[in-house]
Amino acid sequence: MDDFTGRRAALVDQLAPRGVLTDPAWRDAMLRVPRHAFLPDTVWGEDTATGDGRLVAVGRSHPDWVRWAYDDVSVITQVDDGTPAFPDGRGDRATSSASQPSLVARMLHALGVTDGVSVLEIGTATGYNCALLCERLGSDTVTSIEIDPALAEQARSNLESAGYKPHLVVGDGADGVPDRAPFDRVLATVAAQDIPSTWIDQTRPGGVIVTPWATGFATTALARLVVDDDGTARGRFVGDAPFMWLRGQRVALGELWDHVDEAADEVEEFRTGLDPMPVCDADPAGGLALTIGALVPNLSFTRFHATDGSGEASVYFYDRAGSWVLIEYRPEADDYEAHRFGPRDLCAEIAYAFRGWQDADRPGRERFGLTVTPDGQHVWLDTPENEVARP
Ligand SMILES: C[S@@+](CC[C@H](N)C(=O)[O-])C[C@H]1O[C@@H](n2cnc3c(N)ncnc32)[C@H](O)[C@@H]1O
Repeated sequence: MDDFTGRRAALVDQLAPRGVLTDPAWRDAMLRVPRHAFLPDTVWGEDTATGDGRLVAVGRSHPDWVRWAYDDVSVITQVDDGTPAFPDGRGDRATSSASQPSLVARMLHALGVTDGVSVLEIGTATGYNCALLCERLGSDTVTSIEIDPALAEQARSNLESAGYKPHLVVGDGADGVPDRAPFDRVLATVAAQDIPSTWIDQTRPGGVIVTPWATGFATTALARLVVDDDGTARGRFVGDAPFMWLRGQRVALGELWDHVDEAADEVEEFRTGLDPMPVCDADPAGGLALTIGALVPNLSFTRFHATDGSGEASVYFYDRAGSWVLIEYRPEADDYEAHRFGPRDLCAEIAYAFRGWQDADRPGRERFGLTVTPDGQHVWLDTPENEVARP
């Protein structure tokens, strides 16, 4: 047994008792597919020397490369769409990765496959997850699409070397792969804020779509949707799935000051009763964050605590598209001085979402679900009829 084979067996042994690798068929697939063979010679990790959050290249000979191949971690395999953003060769944004093995296993289990089902994977990346599908179901029934031509070519070569021959497509996964439809299962390994209707159109009635669903505010939640014969898809959130977003749906990067200009004309001063602290302190994987994420798309926040021991704070909420609000928080106050700018009234949007969640007895995320219809997405609480809607 070589070192990598031993590490792979150790990873599988570690995942099984955690309840994430319960199906023996997926366990066998994970034992057989060599994850290290799908990693490029250069992967990327946080720059621990500077701690500034930038990403540095880590070569195959580095102990971290070898360790990450079979640790339960995601491995960044591309930054900034292939051209590192900083002149010193470091990267800003992870744009492709080999997903965390426990997350891969949870998503494969959520698909609920049986022998012979056809699967469309969105986001081939290294080809590792695609190889697991081929190992379990046979290459003939597996289709995978990747938007980045260089990554797609690398995946094709990795898969071929490992002996798998799925149907690979280079293109925008938001369009699906109509030529190969209908599919029994669609597995997105990239997050969608707006689930493309093509995925539903290209799934057989009764088929399943497993996709990370992103709002920008809450942790990206894993949605498991069953497709109906009326062209809708409906199901619950079944866990966390932190993923990069579909290229066409990415939000702008940048820090607070790239999106907030307090000196701008037309900044409006007002007072608000919205206490910003419970919003900032919301558990990112909880029901409040999901409700705010669903009702206040693309919300980010930054807060600065006073250093004089007063407990005061300046809290900025912004949408990275021109709207922001600043709330000057004071402990024990009933209302707060505030400033806002831009087309959206973020303060009112947040207050509405917060009140709705409170009035529903502060539900946890496991009580929420999602319905996707041709006219849009509808988050619901407990039952599909009980929609979490904007005013
Ligand atoms: C997290 S990686 C996928 C992980 C992978 N399936 C694995 O084996 O671990 C996400 C991939 O989705 C790709 N991607 C992003 N937007 C896409 C789109 N619109 N269509 C197809 N692929 C896309 C990215 O280029 C990236 O390679």
